Amino acid sequence: MLQISDRVSRIAASKTVQIGELALAMQLRGRDVIQLATGEPDFDTPAVIRNAAIDAISRGATRYTPVRGTPEIRAAICRKLSRDNQLHCTDDQIMVTAGAKQALALAIEVLVGARQEVIVPTPYWVSYPEMVKLADGIPVFTPLRADLGYKLSPDDLSRAISARSRVLILNTPGNPAGNVYTREELLSIADVCRRHGIRILSDEIYEKIVFNGRHHSIAACDRRIADLTVTINGCSKAFAMTGWRIGYAAGRADIIAAMAKLAGQRTTCPSSISQAAASAALDCRPGTISDMTDAYRRRRDLMVAGLNAAGIRCRKPAATFYLFADIRNLLGRKYRKQELTSSQDFTMRLLEHAGVAVVPGEAFGAPHHIRLSFAAARKTIEQGIERIAAFIGQLS
Ligand SMILES: Cc1ncc(COP(=O)(O)O)c(C=O)c1O
Repeated sequence: MLQISDRVSRIAASKTVQIGELALAMQLRGRDVIQLATGEPDFDTPAVIRNAAIDAISRGATRYTPVRGTPEIRAAICRKLSRDNQLHCTDDQIMVTAGAKQALALAIEVLVGARQEVIVPTPYWVSYPEMVKLADGIPVFTPLRADLGYKLSPDDLSRAISARSRVLILNTPGNPAGNVYTREELLSIADVCRRHGIRILSDEIYEKIVFNGRHHSIAACDRRIADLTVTINGCSKAFAMTGWRIGYAAGRADIIAAMAKLAGQRTTCPSSISQAAASAALDCRPGTISDMTDAYRRRRDLMVAGLNAAGIRCRKPAATFYLFADIRNLLGRKYRKQELTSSQDFTMRLLEHAGVAVVPGEAFGAPHHIRLSFAAARKTIEQGIERIAAFIGQLS
């Protein structure tokens, strides 16, 4: 019998990937499914970025690049961080990766030792706990309160810290709750981390999709905090480049060198062609992506209004393209005489009977919730809401 290692057996598969694939399989079998699960812009990658990739192929930029990425993209990242985030890095502090996901996984493996603890504010992005477990670390879940905007307070952080704590994962703007930390909130979190020598992994992948407030990088708050922080970002969400797989990390040169050492044995560099495209993306005019953000804002308003009218209570998220809704009022009710027992159950029946894919809150450590993506065409959102409303209308 095939033996799968303990390391892999003890982690869960990504629920967001699973539900996306399930919906796709249903579509391939001819079912009409409305996809509101996947966290992926429905826009095409802007032409200026696509053309940079075509140009890279034509001029033969098709070979291995340095593990940390080409000098051109590293320079583009330094310019971007300085311009947008007031983070001033040298070249040796930058590394390009195959998506932000790889940057996060490498950083966790480099920073976390066996049985060391990583503080994971909850609800969290699906992969954080499993990445920590793969590194033999222990995720410590710190619940975030809806009435406090799903933000970590310095007191909650202090309570979560133990002698084994090593890293805090901070995600702003946050998936799934769409929360954005203010500079003052980040400063107070950083202050606790500094006092306890906790490193910060700051995942800022949704930085460009903010509707209310402003994004701040915690590493830019002060020099001593920059030293404690690895900042993670990427092109997937901001530039509609999910398939190109380009992310990056910025941090202390010794941490970045260790991450590159690991990648050098695992994957070498990300695609040379994607790196050329991403360099163009990072230097493109702000107007190239602002139209997408404006469209997300209109879709957010449409979805919030529609869901509230349908009986799913939700507030407007300040950022990201996700709506995170509490469905406690629907659990315990019956669909075709069978009780809806959990958000996982709700989600599966919604997919099966109404043909709408959303993600169950269990994926984010938040049972009783669902996450819907409004990175979908207006018409798709309207049809999705209609079907959800009809499904809820049939509950007894
Ligand atoms: C919070 C968060 N971080 C990281 C990622 C991974 O991004 P990438 O597609 O660049 O690997 C995602 C993707 O959904 C995300 O939501």
